[in-house]
Amino acid sequence: MTKDYDTISATPFGSYLGAEISGINVSDCSDEQIADLKTAFVEHGVVVIRDQTLSPDQHVEFAQRIGDINVNRFFKASDENEQIAEVRKEPHQKKNIGAVWHTDHSYDQKPALGSILYAKELPPIGGDTLFNSMHAAWDALSDGLKLTLSTLRAEHSSRHVFGRLTAEATPDLEGRILNAEEATQDATHPVVIRHPQSGKEILYVNPQFTVGIEGWNKDESDALLGFLYQHSLKPEFSCRLRWAPGTIAMWDNRATWHCALNDYQGHRRLLHRITLEGVELEAAVA
Ligand code: SIN
Repeated sequence: MTKDYDTISATPFGSYLGAEISGINVSDCSDEQIADLKTAFVEHGVVVIRDQTLSPDQHVEFAQRIGDINVNRFFKASDENEQIAEVRKEPHQKKNIGAVWHTDHSYDQKPALGSILYAKELPPIGGDTLFNSMHAAWDALSDGLKLTLSTLRAEHSSRHVFGRLTAEATPDLEGRILNAEEATQDATHPVVIRHPQSGKEILYVNPQFTVGIEGWNKDESDALLGFLYQHSLKPEFSCRLRWAPGTIAMWDNRATWHCALNDYQGHRRLLHRITLEGVELEAAVA
């Protein structure tokens, strides 16, 4: 089950995605280890590295060895390094960040490649993160529906998630989610993309940021997207990450959804997130 690369090993913890990586200390690793980690990242969708000790600067240096950093414009930055976004919930706060299944930055014309999340402080229990394989979800559809989906594009937006109306309705997030006036990004992407590295077909719509199918009316669009979400959320397409302080998770944002569980009321949870720049996504069938 464990796969040995030249310099690291990967042990899957989900049938379709998720692997624990051993044999690497990310604050002091070789170019060969970084190359193997990138390969494992594409193969497994989510890679998890345990027991790491990273200063904010080391987190940034590690991220820069994987790709260019996309500084998040809506999350509060860490006071220690402005390239790091805080995913934080204090004991008195009720809402967490990332509770709705999503793909980061799908509202950008060049959506993020992925994120590197580093666990700093965790509740005694709870606060796990769920991930979904959107290749597995695609693969399980019928050939007939695949043919139809391959012709479609979907609209994605940041406005209803990070914009002014939402900010006003969720004062609990004040100080953690910022810059409501900058939530003006809309983008369209193919409903089925070809993964830029693996070449696999991926179902590329998500419950949080996708707002409709291009050229379809709202009823038609809601019905199709509703079916696709219900289908994609079958438990067998998912894996669950239980964090510990010092855990790093890197997820491939083109191939996965994620969702942060909010089952730890009264406790603090703080993770540091760095997001990496991606490229424009191409249709699986040109
Ligand atoms: C996120 O959506 O980036 C947050 C994930 C998490 O808190 O586990």
